Amino acid sequence: MTSDTIADPRTPLAPRRKGLNLEKWGWAYMRVSGVLLVVLIFGHLFVNLVMGEGVRQIDFAFVVGKYATPFWQWWDVLMLWLGLIHGTNGMRTIVNDYVTHNGTRRVLIWALWIVAGLLILLGTLVVFTFDPCIPPVPSSLAGICPA
Ligand code: HEM
Repeated sequence: MTSDTIADPRTPLAPRRKGLNLEKWGWAYMRVSGVLLVVLIFGHLFVNLVMGEGVRQIDFAFVVGKYATPFWQWWDVLMLWLGLIHGTNGMRTIVNDYVTHNGTRRVLIWALWIVAGLLILLGTLVVFTFDPCIPPVPSSLAGICPA
């Protein structure tokens, strides 16, 4: 059998390696995060674009209102973390499938996780440190922000 021939389905499994099987957990993560993302993404779209006045309600004050509650902060942060890790792990799979040069593959996969880590850090900081009252305060928030 050459390396590009698929093994007979009844071939006994190779002895299992001990220790953490990251590839297996990555596979499971894609399924679990996929289910959670359906709820989070469609909930997000429904609340922002369908409820109330729909898309016309979205402005700075709308975002301020949402980020005044820990519920929406955590909703968005969860969407950010799950989505970025899901997307990055999916891109890792695609890189593994198509990039045959070992060095290039390692560089691309490192780059993927570094970018994802930076975006997660930045996004999380934005959500939890968001302060709408930094001057110049828009007139729509004049009643909310101290003068
Ligand atoms: C709406 C909810 C989503 C569900 C239910 C979902 C589900 C899945 C599942 C089950 C896989 C694994 C497929 C496989 O192993 O063959 C996958 C792969 C992938 N997902 Fe998602 N996903 C969702 C959202 C997203 C989002 C928001 C992104 C981008 C940030 C994304 C990017 C990817 C990528 C790049 C792959 C790899 C594709 C491949 O292996 O060819 N997905 N998704």
